Amino acid sequence: MEQTTFADKKRKTVEQAEFTADGRYVRKVRSFVLRTGRLSDYQRDMMNNNWANLGLDYQNTPFDFATIFGNNNPVVLEIGFGMGKSLVEMAEQNPDRNYIGIEVHTPGVGACIAYAVEKGVKNLRVICHDATEILRDSIAPNSLGGLQLYFPDPWQKAKHHKRRIVQPAFVERLLEKLAPKGFIHMATDWENYSEHMLEVLRQFPQLQNQSATNDFIPRPDFRPLTKFEERGHKLGHGVWDLYFIKQ
Ligand SMILES: C[S@@+](CC[C@H](N)C(=O)[O-])C[C@H]1O[C@@H](n2cnc3c(N)ncnc32)[C@H](O)[C@@H]1O
Repeated sequence: MEQTTFADKKRKTVEQAEFTADGRYVRKVRSFVLRTGRLSDYQRDMMNNNWANLGLDYQNTPFDFATIFGNNNPVVLEIGFGMGKSLVEMAEQNPDRNYIGIEVHTPGVGACIAYAVEKGVKNLRVICHDATEILRDSIAPNSLGGLQLYFPDPWQKAKHHKRRIVQPAFVERLLEKLAPKGFIHMATDWENYSEHMLEVLRQFPQLQNQSATNDFIPRPDFRPLTKFEERGHKLGHGVWDLYFIKQ
């Protein structure tokens, strides 16, 4: 019989059930549906063998970034890194920053770790858990240098819009965790979601839009092409980047 490894267990704990004090199940609106994509043997091995150096687990107290990274460089959090290629490239290009990537899709987590090992990147840690819970419980107030959210699931149908990760409560939480001058960088290839993002971010006077036209910024060169962006190009979609700074 095949042995259940650490990586397989991780898959099962991504969606931990929560209960109220009197034992009732808390039904959650999640921004993701766990895809059943196969974790390859290679990805599983990379996850199992490198978690000690590159992985972080959910915790209900804030991470100590200085101990984790061994320095006081700014920490940038990326939510939903997919297969992680662009995140590893950014970490490689910005050695004076630390990166934490969160993704619930285990094959993506395995692929990201494999690429980070191949590139010898040391300023990156990955987490396999719901990002909203990490942000709520594992990140200290005023501690983040920035937040990256690239091509989040658009949840196109109006009845699914509540599943979009960008909501006022999410941005409020983000503001609490960002350090002064911390940035929020979002990108999407769905025009309707870009308008929604703009509408939500504009509700917060503490956030200063870096767009010269007070809406979107031109696609910045420092953001590597992501898998979903490439897919959007093939479908003939446009791309909208939003960049805000906390005052
Ligand atoms: C459309 S994909 C984009 C992936 C990548 N950023 C790219 O541009 O290629 C969105 C990703 O976000 C992840 N995701 C959605 N909600 C999440 C959450 N709450 N926590 C962590 N990951 C999440 C999904 O698993 C999915 O891989």
